[in-house]
Amino acid sequence: MIASSSNPAEIAELLAFYASAGVDEALEDAPINRFAEASRPKQSERPAAATTPVRESRSQEIPSSPARSDQGGITERQAPSPGLDASNVPDAPVRTATAAVPDEAQAALARQMAASASTLEELRRHMEAFDGCNLKATAKHLVFADGNPEATLMLVGEAPGRDEDIEGLPFVGRSGRLLDRMLAAIGLDRTSVYIANVIPWRPPGNRTPTPHETEICRPFIERQIELVNPKVLVNLGGPSAKTLLNTSEGILRLRGNWRAHTTASGIAIPAMPTLHPAYLLRTPAHKKLAWRDFLEVKAKLRALG
Ligand code: URA
Repeated sequence: MIASSSNPAEIAELLAFYASAGVDEALEDAPINRFAEASRPKQSERPAAATTPVRESRSQEIPSSPARSDQGGITERQAPSPGLDASNVPDAPVRTATAAVPDEAQAALARQMAASASTLEELRRHMEAFDGCNLKATAKHLVFADGNPEATLMLVGEAPGRDEDIEGLPFVGRSGRLLDRMLAAIGLDRTSVYIANVIPWRPPGNRTPTPHETEICRPFIERQIELVNPKVLVNLGGPSAKTLLNTSEGILRLRGNWRAHTTASGIAIPAMPTLHPAYLLRTPAHKKLAWRDFLEVKAKLRALG
């Protein structure tokens, strides 16, 4: 934060402005002059000692990922999606970030680490040791999952927001409380469902995860679904539905219709795309649509025994 005033009242006002604009944490203690950075020599031109250090692996057994070669060529900051909420606006245009090509080495490592996990605990350890996603650098916690790993119903959202990052659990903020009420309406709670996100680290400022970040994280959530092996999957919001159902259709078209999520071992899990609770908080008139979707889910669980 840059404050040109030393007047406490003005600083308090500036802080209040930042808070209302959704800026809830400083990523660095000191401001960075990006203009000065542009005139510095490129990494490849700098002496070896000045290169980015490789992050230390958090696990002895699991190979840490190599230092990221780049940040995916992303040159523009993406707009924040409040509480990851804006990203769940139905039928919002799919973002085509400048990073169209995922860092294949990191995605390949993620696939390898995900596939080699034979239990959920092992998967969590592998994800904790994985350094190939830049989001991990700014997140406080890995947000792995909440609920019952034996559950027959698994719900997958997009990515953690601020509250989830602080607590290390998915859907604990305002949208989480609405999700709890929606589950209660069909007789379920967190002891009878399993909840996770496509992206397990909070994007800074709740910005929309880039396609690059999504591709890197995808193997982990796919393996998590495979290990939980639920009878029914619910995709909360467009990003979860698009990623896990391999479609580019908007959530308003997708919702309410059964699809299938096919695991790496070829099992087709019935999947119900529905509206994200954060979207419902902003558009309460659509709660009735989500209600219908949840009734479908209840009926399907009953039919599948
Ligand atoms: N939104 C999500 O998609 N996931 C969370 O965990 C919280 C908000």
